[in-house]
Amino acid sequence: MTRPFLDFPRDFVFGVATAAYQIEGAHDEGGRTPSIWDTFSHTPGKTWKGHTGDVACDHYHRYPKDIALMKELGIRAYRLSIAWPRMVPERGVKNQQGIDFYKHLLTALHEAEITPAVTLYHWDLPQWLDDLGGWLNRDVTEHFAEYAELVHRELGDLIPRVITHNEPWCSSFLGYALGVHAPGHTDWREAFTAAHHILLSHGRAVQAYRAAGGSGEVGITLNFTWIDPASTQPEDVAAAERVAGFSNRWFIQPVFSGTYPTDVAALVESRFGAMDFVKAGDLDVISTPVDFLGVNYYTRNVVAHQPNGDWLQVRHVAPPKEAQTEMGWEIHPESLYRLLHWIERNYTKGTPLYITENGAAFDDAVEDGAVHDVRRIDYVADHLAAAQRFIAEGGRLKGYYLWSLLDNYEWAFGYSKRFGIVHVDYETQARTVKDSARWYSGQIAHQHAAPTAE
Ligand code: FCB
Repeated sequence: MTRPFLDFPRDFVFGVATAAYQIEGAHDEGGRTPSIWDTFSHTPGKTWKGHTGDVACDHYHRYPKDIALMKELGIRAYRLSIAWPRMVPERGVKNQQGIDFYKHLLTALHEAEITPAVTLYHWDLPQWLDDLGGWLNRDVTEHFAEYAELVHRELGDLIPRVITHNEPWCSSFLGYALGVHAPGHTDWREAFTAAHHILLSHGRAVQAYRAAGGSGEVGITLNFTWIDPASTQPEDVAAAERVAGFSNRWFIQPVFSGTYPTDVAALVESRFGAMDFVKAGDLDVISTPVDFLGVNYYTRNVVAHQPNGDWLQVRHVAPPKEAQTEMGWEIHPESLYRLLHWIERNYTKGTPLYITENGAAFDDAVEDGAVHDVRRIDYVADHLAAAQRFIAEGGRLKGYYLWSLLDNYEWAFGYSKRFGIVHVDYETQARTVKDSARWYSGQIAHQHAAPTAE
């Protein structure tokens, strides 16, 4: 409450974000079949206390009330994702109940004057596709393009902004190399193969969307971690460049420049074998022009050279305790400012950017019907200030979607991390508006009261 509101251009979009598996629940209702996250979360030892998304925030049943709450808070933009296994529960089968669910949800949003942005893939690959090899099977790119077309055909009129993928870095590296996300594999060669197929499926989906006459905006969301070297020593600077190459350039460069970074590619090939999964013409498909880039930003990493360390030969330097969120991530808004400039200067060059996720987990508690999450207000206000500076310097940033509307299922961390501006009691499903939601609501009202159009 304490933080002053910020002035943004009149048409700047302020929204909130969620994802299907993290909030919907109803995992076996309405004709939905399992995704890789159902399989993974039900495998003993994979998630915190064995938590699953079976019920989550029960949004599948409670969406009318959740939308009413958004409206009450004055929220006018909402990023959500569609669960692929609700739409296509089996090979070649379209599920009318799933289509109807999203039709009703999207219609209700429009009626509440909340503009949806829809992510097609926020990590819930249908299990039947994983049984065919998942993202390791090149054919899955074809299935994804068909799914994108189906969403467009059935729901396109209701979706003005489409995001093909959320954070391919996580889907591929956390899922196929580090084993901490579904499908839980631990093989770097697989991870780079999956990453390539995910990017290829993005390009195919953009082409399918355009071919089908899609008139909305289409883009992709990438996650970025700003990387700083631990010292000015040349070996630490080089270590930081390697990690930045792996974390950031590996995805943005193919999408915007149609090439993989040669320095990282050389490392990958020397460690994990020839990148023969890249076929002629793939990079042209991957770099099909998009209407925007979604930027997810939470933190930065500080890294040092470490011989005989992991394959990147680096070690991470832990941030000071007082600068960490509940995830252990460093709070560093300045790096958002630097990142936006770096992205625009080197890659997007004027293609609009949206911050499609930014937010923080803190150990919130409800006291007398309130949650005084002052640190979250500071986090959001400081990151908005960084975004505002970028815009003031001519940066093409058109919106900000706060992660997240609700506390929700934080993947392998289960329900132990709370990112919401609305608190969820998982026993009762009661929603409690946190102070951060009231502050954000004030920021949005301030925005809409702005006198002049820019
Ligand atoms: C991002 C994910 C999102 C959420 C936040 C905290 O990596 O896209 O689903 O889990 O982190």
